[in-house]
Amino acid sequence: MMSIVIRMGDIYESVMELAKRRGFVWPTSECYGAVAGFVDYGPLGAMMKRNVENLWRRFYVIREGYYEIECPTVGSESIYIASGHVKGFADKMCQCPQCREYLRADHVAEAHGTNGAACLSAEDLAALLHGLPCPACGELLENPAVFDFNLMFETSIGPGSQRKGYLRPETAQGIFTDFNRLVRFYRNRLPFGAVQIGKSYRNEISPRQGMIRLREFTQAEAEIFVHPDQKEHPNFSAYADYAMPLLGIEQQQKSTPSILVTMKDAVAQGLVANEYVAYYLALTHDLLLRAGVDAEKLRFRQHLPDERAHYAEDCWDAEIFSERFGWVETVGIADRTDYDLRAHAKESGESFTVFIPFDEVRYETRRRIVADMGVLGPQYRGRAKRIADALAVATPGNEGAEVTIDGETIFIPKSLYREVEEQVEIRGIEVRPHVIEPSYGIDRMLYAVLEHSYAEEMVEGEVRKVLRLPPDIAPVQVAVFPLMNRDGLDEIALSITGILAERAILAQYDDSGAIGRRYRRQDEIGTPFAVTVDYDTREDGTVTVRDRDTMRQVRLPIGDLPETLASLIAGTLRFDQL
Ligand code: ATP
Ligand code: GLY
Repeated sequence: MMSIVIRMGDIYESVMELAKRRGFVWPTSECYGAVAGFVDYGPLGAMMKRNVENLWRRFYVIREGYYEIECPTVGSESIYIASGHVKGFADKMCQCPQCREYLRADHVAEAHGTNGAACLSAEDLAALLHGLPCPACGELLENPAVFDFNLMFETSIGPGSQRKGYLRPETAQGIFTDFNRLVRFYRNRLPFGAVQIGKSYRNEISPRQGMIRLREFTQAEAEIFVHPDQKEHPNFSAYADYAMPLLGIEQQQKSTPSILVTMKDAVAQGLVANEYVAYYLALTHDLLLRAGVDAEKLRFRQHLPDERAHYAEDCWDAEIFSERFGWVETVGIADRTDYDLRAHAKESGESFTVFIPFDEVRYETRRRIVADMGVLGPQYRGRAKRIADALAVATPGNEGAEVTIDGETIFIPKSLYREVEEQVEIRGIEVRPHVIEPSYGIDRMLYAVLEHSYAEEMVEGEVRKVLRLPPDIAPVQVAVFPLMNRDGLDEIALSITGILAERAILAQYDDSGAIGRRYRRQDEIGTPFAVTVDYDTREDGTVTVRDRDTMRQVRLPIGDLPETLASLIAGTLRFDQL
């Protein structure tokens, strides 16, 4: 069957119209007036989202071996004081003096050609915005006041508002606060990783970009803890020769295009900070293509030095091109150094380190001060023991040593102690790991896959809308149709649906309307394969299997269906091999 791709209108409108009509994504609580920045996933959207998350799990949990944990979405204030979010997790905001709409100041500036506006000060942004039209009402902004707006949703824990809490703005912090337990789980060895998939919350100032900018969204994050001096990935060879386009700092500063480079060369040339970051750049490229992102609409851009988060040593964004929104950050890959573990150690008083044993025990000569308790005891009574302990770690001068007890500095003359030299056995060292973090936005990924897989084609004089989703990402994997809703064809089709369900294949039975219409309904939601039971089925036990993309059909015995369809869905068999 011939199909001709036809020119589409506004693809965002088309995709969102389909998404709403067919039950992928709905505005939330529509009956009370939808709230900007929140969406509901309908039956097909929720299923597809689960498939995207499971693909992510296949890469990070099954392949990389990083176990998944699940932490609360509400966290106590201490977590976010330590992480720096209470102080610094803010965007620059201003209000239109005419229509009173709150605006994200850097976005308004960027829409009028300023690059990197998020790094500008409030004063510089205010000066830039003066005289620009308000994106909401079109009136000119006059000397707008620009100020910081913290994006965290605040709540209180328990009655009486005694404890302040926050909805987590990233899933990462739960992994950091569990670090000491994770170290034990992974038996005190580096590197190790833990992942989390779940909701994060940001009170975005002006969320007018559908699924791209939500106030409640799903992140899939991996935190990989590595030795600070050993950033060679143990499995780097898997991606060393993987070539992909990188838009480094230099390319951006010189306004030259991305360069196609292997990960091995990217690290050797110093374009990417280390093997770990390079490995996850490649893995992310691999995963996004596998999820259905168009390779031509994917780039990896390095953060400019003043754009980089306060904690990051090197940071790259996987950006996906959308017809409506331009290049959209969808995954952030950062070397977060030991920033978070250091911050939590300071705030909590716990160590947040891993004890790394040496291959061989080492010995060090150390000087120690041993107090003369016979004299110190009667002289300092109740404080004598604490003075002796403080002396043991003090650095003595020529005449004696100073110690501070209860805020009082006491001079102990050298006649009251002796210095001894000791051989100390050192079995290992406490190391505070660095963290490599790939952070994926599942909602942005899902939107990109919908947009990139959407097509309109002319087939036999009619428009066919089709989502060319990878079979294991599509919400429904197989459609099962009886050609006629009678003569036992419906019973056979229902029994095939049941057999496929046994094999954990989501098959949708449909017996209503002309067969052509039924195919179109499934094409539109991306169902990759359709099984049709016809009158020959009753004779020879075979059915037709139709491929969504080519619309080709082959006949197969019913008994072969579970195995063949499972292989087609898993990608271990191609339709043209049937
Ligand atoms: P942006 O600059 O677009 O606001 P960000 O730099 O704040 O994004 P990160 O803090 O790096 O994003 O978050 C990691 C990932 O989480 C992003 O790559 C994105 O996919 C996702 N994400 C962040 N904010 C949102 C949001 N408001 N809605 C949907 N996804 C989001
Ligand atoms: N965990 C990275 C981020 O959400 O900013």
